[in-house]
Amino acid sequence: MLNEKVIDLLNDQINKELYSAYLYLDMSNYFDDNDLDGFANWYYIQAQEERDHAMLFLKYLQSNGIRPVLKAVDMPDKVFEKHIDPLLAGAEHERYVTELIHNIYDAAYAVKDFRTMQFLDWFVKEQLEEEENADKLVNKFNLFGDDPKSLYLLDQELAARVYSAPSLVL
Ligand code: FEO
Repeated sequence: MLNEKVIDLLNDQINKELYSAYLYLDMSNYFDDNDLDGFANWYYIQAQEERDHAMLFLKYLQSNGIRPVLKAVDMPDKVFEKHIDPLLAGAEHERYVTELIHNIYDAAYAVKDFRTMQFLDWFVKEQLEEEENADKLVNKFNLFGDDPKSLYLLDQELAARVYSAPSLVL
């Protein structure tokens, strides 16, 4: 039986990951609205990954005999005025998610919940990748975003991103 605090945090993380999916869909909407289809694609796929993360937390609770509680997902409320705004918000958001994952890890560690720690190891590694990808996007935009031709090429590059299912299977 999992510890109550660990269960609550894992359950909350389902909601946080679904919110992340909403946030990235909102960013996809912003870029679609601005005819940057590659950026819109990149964030659409990012949202699919976040949905997958939510499913993994849900499945983990189910596997442990816990019935997940599905709470309301907040509406994304960030205002994007410039193309760089979603990119910066995404990078900041990933750092916040890393803190959340570490916080759950901390709670599992405190009660010697080795199973949950092992489950979370995948997410600890994943967050490094998430932060790196978000930062790279900001850096690329800072380098090329002001020049229309370069922005077009960057948009083409981002259009090539395809969805792949997470390597963690429960
Ligand atoms: Fe679910 Fe982007 O971390």
